[in-house]
Amino acid sequence: MAPSSEIRQILAAGGLLAVVAAGSVGPVHASGAAGNAELAQGKAVYREYCAVCHGNDGRGHGPIAKASKIHPTDLAALRRNNGSFPAQQIDAALRGDDPVVAHGAPGMMVWGALFLSDVNGNEAAAAATRRDVIAYIESMQEK
Ligand code: HEC
Repeated sequence: MAPSSEIRQILAAGGLLAVVAAGSVGPVHASGAAGNAELAQGKAVYREYCAVCHGNDGRGHGPIAKASKIHPTDLAALRRNNGSFPAQQIDAALRGDDPVVAHGAPGMMVWGALFLSDVNGNEAAAAATRRDVIAYIESMQEK
């Protein structure tokens, strides 16, 4: 399996998703109160852009994980491993400010500019997309 061609497929599919996401961002919640619409949106983005490496359940066993020298982080254990849920850290990773080598280089992330305002039209919409996926990851934390 050639990971790069699979990633290209994902990115091609993602272009469409980004357009959909930009138009369908729901009402903004003040803090941590993601509703069903936000979680559904976050799940759709996660499945499209993250699950291929991190797995549907976040445990790090996606189809590309085998081809990766660095094992994808267990996202369902983030709260346990960090003491509290590291929302800011994930947000920084999505923006490319906290570059995780496996995610690409700043400005060349594996998910393109999905989480940045240039794709979403404005920073509020980009932030909502990031918040949805972060809320979805929070919802998968082990109890
Ligand atoms: C191409 C494979 C790949 C994709 C796609 C991917 N990740 Fe990762 N991710 C990794 C790997 C590998 C690591 C571990 C990096 C390390 O330990 O240096 C990681 C680490 C992380 C971390 C931990 C970062 C930290 O600061 O330690 C978070 C959070 C994360 N990924 C979130 C996501 C989210 C959210 C998405 C989807 C938007 C995503 N990843 C997409 C491979 C991927």
